[in-house]
Amino acid sequence: MTLLKVSNLSKKYVEKYAIKDISFELEQRKFFTLIGPSGAGKTTLLRLINLLEPPTSGEIEYNGWSLKTLHKKKMVNARREMGFVFQRPVVFSTTVKANVAYGLNFRNLPSDEIEERVHRALDMVGLHGFEERKALTLSGGEIQRVALARTLATEPKMLLLDEATADLDPANVALIESVLKKFNEEKKVTIIMATHNFFQAKRLGALVGFMMGGEMIEIGTADQIFNHPQDERTEAFISGEMIY
Ligand SMILES: Nc1ncnc2c1ncn2[C@@H]1O[C@H](COP(=O)(O)OP(=O)(O)OP(=O)(O)O)[C@@H](O)[C@H]1O
Ligand SMILES: [Mg+2]
Repeated sequence: MTLLKVSNLSKKYVEKYAIKDISFELEQRKFFTLIGPSGAGKTTLLRLINLLEPPTSGEIEYNGWSLKTLHKKKMVNARREMGFVFQRPVVFSTTVKANVAYGLNFRNLPSDEIEERVHRALDMVGLHGFEERKALTLSGGEIQRVALARTLATEPKMLLLDEATADLDPANVALIESVLKKFNEEKKVTIIMATHNFFQAKRLGALVGFMMGGEMIEIGTADQIFNHPQDERTEAFISGEMIY
């Protein structure tokens, strides 16, 4: 089943297009990584999908709902099914527990359900027992895992990640990758992840999209993109010939 359909999507800031006429469809349960040089439009695409800002033109359908024509209430529902993890997450100067519960407090859940979800999410990211720690005393890798736990606790259907492991050491990268894989495979969560790291895209992305200059140049399996790219710009980028 198609979960996300992006049609002729463009976003123009002042005089320049950050996203130009992008169209693609994503089936439910896919793990889709976005690669491309800095300024390619990866973050902008994720932000448009997450309804953080409106496109200049074009359309996004999520779960069969056109996000352009959605009523406010449905828009909130669509956004609640999506989770977004940023490169540099914001944590609040409270406990880890309060940080992870943050997104749940708007969902009218009973407090024991909130408690239960917070524990489960912290377990998943390897932070069992961190509930009462002050979030600001954590290391960078732990903070990123708290941010991931906060998103996972909301049980998203679609998870969007923007360079979420870019600043981390290999051990934390590996841990987060294994959590994402598990979520994708066991919980059937659809994932779209922007990354600068080719190896990560190879390891994780069943599907890989190469973006450049605001365009989606090519989408294919990791094998197609990394071993048999169709477009010469993709080839230049993955072979390291492209300076960026
Ligand atoms: N709010 C904004 N106002 C003006 N220009 C913007 C804005 N946001 C993004 N842009 C421009 O849009 C283009 C695409 O930016 P975007 O952040 O989406 O790229 P990216 O692929 O995520 O890059 P990186 O790999 O460096 O994160 C860039 O030229 C950027 O300067
Ligand atoms: Mg970016």
